[in-house]
Amino acid sequence: MRKPLVMGNWKMHGSRASVKQLLGGLVREGGYPSVDVVVCPAFVHIPLAVSLCEGSGLGVGAQDCSHMAAGAYTGEVAAEMLVDSGCRWVILGHSERRQYHGESDDMVAAKVAAALAAGLAPVVCVGETRDEREAGEAQYTVARQLQGALRGQSNTRHLVVAYEPVWAIGTGLTATPQEAQAMHAFIREQLADLKGVDAAATRVLYGGSVKPDNAAELFAETDIDGALVGGASLDAQDFQAIVAAARG
Ligand code: PGA
Repeated sequence: MRKPLVMGNWKMHGSRASVKQLLGGLVREGGYPSVDVVVCPAFVHIPLAVSLCEGSGLGVGAQDCSHMAAGAYTGEVAAEMLVDSGCRWVILGHSERRQYHGESDDMVAAKVAAALAAGLAPVVCVGETRDEREAGEAQYTVARQLQGALRGQSNTRHLVVAYEPVWAIGTGLTATPQEAQAMHAFIREQLADLKGVDAAATRVLYGGSVKPDNAAELFAETDIDGALVGGASLDAQDFQAIVAAARG
């Protein structure tokens, strides 16, 4: 049985004041014994988020990390630094990183290796664009991204995969629960073919315009183990409602 996981990807939003306000609302709700709940603020807000979440059961993650362990890499943040700051999770290969920062599958693979070596749980994002879906290449794209990121990785025990169709991110469009389930089942089949990955134990999250009113029907699908939530994670009530839906 896979424990549901709901992650908030705050992207490049917020201030110290808004982080305090948002986490104040979430932390007040108390512990989350049956669901893992994680927030991913911008790097500069991680220490504040970690201190506010202490003892609450909420976890803190980052939205990216360097592919290198340490050294002269101006502007980069190493996976070890994130662990040292209290993070346990890191989102990798998000489509916005692939689109705006040219991240290739090889770069994502190097970041996954760095995260695993440091003891972070990598949340590897995959998903097709609208053009790729319309051309009938959705599965091909997702399989390529998965294999690119995960082939040859060792010790993938804490691996999480997030299926985020690019056309559904921030657009208000979502895959139907059936479309999402079909891709999640395909992802699990692909994971089963990868050496060193425990496909049955790996949580596969859905992401792309998840809201309180569509979360429950997505979570009802067999292979959807939670959500990576962007916009709705910036509203404590909405995020809380999505977490509640994951509790079942
Ligand atoms: P969204 O973003 O929920 O705003 O669509 C999801 C994501 O990019 O992780």
